[in-house]
Amino acid sequence: MARASVSIDYEGASEAVAAAYGRDPNFVIPMLQDLQREFGYIPSEAAICMARLLGIPLSQLYAVATFYSSLRLTPCGDHVITLCMGTVCYLKGSSKLAARIQASLNVGPGGTTADGRFTFQPVNCLGACGLAPVLVVDDTYFTEVKPIHVPDIIARYARKDGAARDVR
Ligand code: FES
Repeated sequence: MARASVSIDYEGASEAVAAAYGRDPNFVIPMLQDLQREFGYIPSEAAICMARLLGIPLSQLYAVATFYSSLRLTPCGDHVITLCMGTVCYLKGSSKLAARIQASLNVGPGGTTADGRFTFQPVNCLGACGLAPVLVVDDTYFTEVKPIHVPDIIARYARKDGAARDVR
């Protein structure tokens, strides 16, 4: 039985994104964000296409992509745990949450677990300072989180049958 191979159209996706911004290199950040929305991260193939389409060195494009922590050059895990490390959350203990998450998952900031289940992503303010500290798994917000909550949150998303949506 022949196996069908799926080819990803990096060129086409890059051309569509570049065209939407008139191939203007001044818009490289939103273009990279669009590529990330398309693929879940910025694949090297797409980065190469984009640099060529914009007429800029690939090193320049990567300089932008690596500067912004919200841009990813590697695929994410099945679930992305985003932890706010902004000032208010930090003062309310997000560093302890970070330590607990990293110890539980055995990953560093920006890392993905060996089984591809989780990516841990510390970020600056998530805009919910009044409910600090704030942790987001995929698109679900967990507020006033304490280190003792971390294992339960992770366990719920670790299940293969999908994520629980309301832990608290
Ligand atoms: S500092 Fe964490 S939500 Fe604003």
